[in-house]
Amino acid sequence: MGVPLVDLQLQYQDIREEVMAAFDEALSSMRLALGPNVEAFEQEFSEFSDVKHTIGVGSGTDALQLLLHAHGIGPGDEVVTSSFTFIATIEAIMLLGATPVLADIEPDTYCLDAAQVAEKITPRTRAVMPVHLYGHPADMDAIAEVIGDRDIVLLEDAAQAHGALYKGKPAGGLADGAAFSFYLSKNLAAYGEAGAITVEDDDLDEVIRALRVHGSLEKYVHRLIGYNSRIDELQAAVLRIKLRRLADWNEARRRHAARYNEQLCNLPDLTIPVEKEWAWSVYHVYTIRSPRRDQIAEALNAAGIGNAIHYRVPCHLQVALRDLGMSAGSLPETERAANEVLSLPMYPELTNEQIDSVCEVVVDAML
Ligand SMILES: Cc1ncc(COP(=O)(O)O)c(C=O)c1O
Repeated sequence: MGVPLVDLQLQYQDIREEVMAAFDEALSSMRLALGPNVEAFEQEFSEFSDVKHTIGVGSGTDALQLLLHAHGIGPGDEVVTSSFTFIATIEAIMLLGATPVLADIEPDTYCLDAAQVAEKITPRTRAVMPVHLYGHPADMDAIAEVIGDRDIVLLEDAAQAHGALYKGKPAGGLADGAAFSFYLSKNLAAYGEAGAITVEDDDLDEVIRALRVHGSLEKYVHRLIGYNSRIDELQAAVLRIKLRRLADWNEARRRHAARYNEQLCNLPDLTIPVEKEWAWSVYHVYTIRSPRRDQIAEALNAAGIGNAIHYRVPCHLQVALRDLGMSAGSLPETERAANEVLSLPMYPELTNEQIDSVCEVVVDAML
């Protein structure tokens, strides 16, 4: 039985009528720039994430950049983050002229390791930005403890973690601000590019609202040099429809992860995803690790089963980042993970039969 890595069509069939009606309403009104859907979505996402403010922007990458910008990060500043992430985490820092300082990860959660962060802090460090990778939250308290009372902000790259809980509290409200992506395949996904920033602080909220529209809160009056990064009304309309279902979809992902775990937990040379006792992961992806990863991927490909490596080349070894001067061997846990991880099909509409057939292929490949 072939199984796709992600199936976005099934979800669309479920919500098609609502989406069409919402699009028609928005298009008929022609209030397409920061209109009623954006305003309502921002409020609804704030409630969902238990934060005071949500600011919708053009993408997750923009969300990271505007969040860092609003915190005053710029040339000469260092931001400690993970190398085991999508490149956008690092790009946002570099686009502001700041320097990414890449620390190693915990080998079980793949998130930033607080002890490694401690080694990377210098007098120039202005922010630490862990990534809640694969939908599992980073250990925010451990990182906050390392920062101590230094003048360093703690931010979240929550692009993969809509609805994930850390010690019972949702991602997005765990520190001094968070960035979300609503890219097509995310747990909460638009039908185009979109992202959001969540913050508690009223002043930051105001600055970010200005930054997303050319530094302006009043038409043609510009108090800052900003960006053109509005979330558009059609994307906000889709996100509102999907947000109402997100808790159920995240539960479904967790059920699928449990079913995978049951069948894959006792294989030699294969490690199933870890969920810390303080975490409630939303399994943006379901990622196993094995030194025999390529053998498993080959068997899955032969059976028509989707799989992916998140991420094959860690950021510090990307050509684009060669000026950082980090060579192979500098982040051993990150590099080991990059050589061993493999993501299996994961989306809410996955069936038990599909999961069982994926597991059968994985188990056979390990014999
Ligand atoms: C961890 C992480 N950070 C940032 C981004 C950037 O988001 P976007 O693609 O919406 O710009 C993504 C996803 O694409 C991501 O997975």
